[in-house]
Amino acid sequence: MSASSKPLETAFAVAEGSLAPEASGGISIRVGPGAEIEEGTCRLVQHGNISIGVYRVNGSFHAIRNHCPHQGAPLCRGTLHATYAPGAVGEYRPALEGRVLRCPWHGWEFDLITGKGLYDARGRVKTYATRVDEEGIVFIDL
Ligand code: FES
Repeated sequence: MSASSKPLETAFAVAEGSLAPEASGGISIRVGPGAEIEEGTCRLVQHGNISIGVYRVNGSFHAIRNHCPHQGAPLCRGTLHATYAPGAVGEYRPALEGRVLRCPWHGWEFDLITGKGLYDARGRVKTYATRVDEEGIVFIDL
């Protein structure tokens, strides 16, 4: 491995080894019926001046701030897909199937579940805990 690949290795290790955020017991925001959010799609929720996208991926709900840390693009207008983990030349290891959010402006990629930027060791977007109540209503817990 070359020294220049270490930030990417770190980014993927963090994304693949981390869990979704947990509720902190603070403010709860009602998103709506989970049945209305189709697999792989997003519903935007506004809380004050903060826009949050709530996605359904593999039947689970994940919330991420709708703001790219690069130049402020509405991140949730980007596409959701998979990517390849860093590796040797000619080596392709599919990674993070269906949970990579690509910014619509310049293509920076983020892991939807952890918010980890997949371009260096430090970049990150805020993600939030979600829960579904007994009636199937999705909430974001700030
Ligand atoms: S604003 Fe998102 S990559 Fe540039």
